[in-house]
Amino acid sequence: MPEQQTLTVALGERAYPIHIGAGLIERGDLLLPALKGRRAVVVTNVTVAPLYLERLRSTLEKGGFSVLPIVLPDGEEYKTWETLNQIFDGLLGGHCERSTPLIALGGGVIGDMGGFAAACYQRGMPFIQVPTTLLAQVDSSVGGKTAINHPLGKNMIGAFYQPRLVLADIATLDTLPARELSAGLAEVIKYGLIRDPELFAWLEANMQRLLARERDALAHAVLRSCANKAEVVADDEKEAGGRALLNLGHTFGHAIETGLGYGAWLHGEAVAAGTLIAAELSQRLGWLSKSDVERIERLFSYAGLPVRAPRLGAERYLELMRHDKKVEDGRLKLILMRGIGEGVIDDGVPADLIAAAIETRCT
Ligand code: NAD
Ligand code: GLY
Repeated sequence: MPEQQTLTVALGERAYPIHIGAGLIERGDLLLPALKGRRAVVVTNVTVAPLYLERLRSTLEKGGFSVLPIVLPDGEEYKTWETLNQIFDGLLGGHCERSTPLIALGGGVIGDMGGFAAACYQRGMPFIQVPTTLLAQVDSSVGGKTAINHPLGKNMIGAFYQPRLVLADIATLDTLPARELSAGLAEVIKYGLIRDPELFAWLEANMQRLLARERDALAHAVLRSCANKAEVVADDEKEAGGRALLNLGHTFGHAIETGLGYGAWLHGEAVAAGTLIAAELSQRLGWLSKSDVERIERLFSYAGLPVRAPRLGAERYLELMRHDKKVEDGRLKLILMRGIGEGVIDDGVPADLIAAAIETRCT
């Protein structure tokens, strides 16, 4: 039997385990204790279903569950009301009950939409995350943020809704396209930058092993990322304070994704370019040295990620950023750095300084 490592997201009576290892989709001993009843819904998409649905179905059926699959179109551009409604159509058409568990099998798009559907259907059904992208394993499957996009802003419609279990099977990363692997690395680098300088240094030394998909390196990156995320979420589940640090690069990144049209740049790519804008701004404020910014740029480049943002115009960026969830009383909260491993939240940066950093970092 393959080995796994387990972390806990410490949220009192809603605490849940994150299991990380190779071959976990087949591990009924890990999955089944989180489920009740005799039926389970699996929400997935047309790309992931042919790869992993039958394996998950077999694990569930061996445990005495019948399976209702709901297979959605693939892509960020489908993270919409219309697709969410397809999940509700499947749940209602299949006579699912409030106690029927919903399992999201896929990347962050499936996890975010499946989680939002689970939060809403009959006011809440049990929710399980089986993330199959690096990004989903290191970030989106943990912490309970669920959402869909709106044409005016990314992830603007959603709910906090924690899963009961996260099952991160790193063997599924074998089939992930290289560009998607790199996108996931952006979120791993993020933890290094905001709170884990040791992880940042480890990434500098081990990026090649990650890109070659060495299992032990991937397992370390997923474990360390989830450990960071679990701590942050346990301290501040609903982002009243410190959880906002997890959005390093995201305010600029969401502007890129919305501005270019959902799906043009991958989320992780937009976060990478956005993080370099945040680094530029931090340097202009005197908080990061030039050599730190160069170190950050080198690591993102090495991971195969863009370090220059698309030229939408600083005014357009600022307009798009006004729709961000981190706007409070009209003031934009930015995540910046006071060194590698020290993220800070600041809502007092003048717009002209932000605009100058954007212009410098656009191609
Ligand atoms: P994604 O879900 O679009 O998956 C990327 C691509 O990989 C898709 O084409 C998918 O079908 C495919 N895929 C998935 N698993 C595969 C596998 N094992 N083998 C081959 N192909 C596979 O993108 P993502 O990067 O996983 O997630 C991005 C989304 O996550 C964005 O919508 C972002 O807003 C969201 N997100 C949410 C949170 C959160 O806390 N909830 C955090 C970060 C990002
Ligand atoms: N990905 C940001 C968060 O979970 O808070």
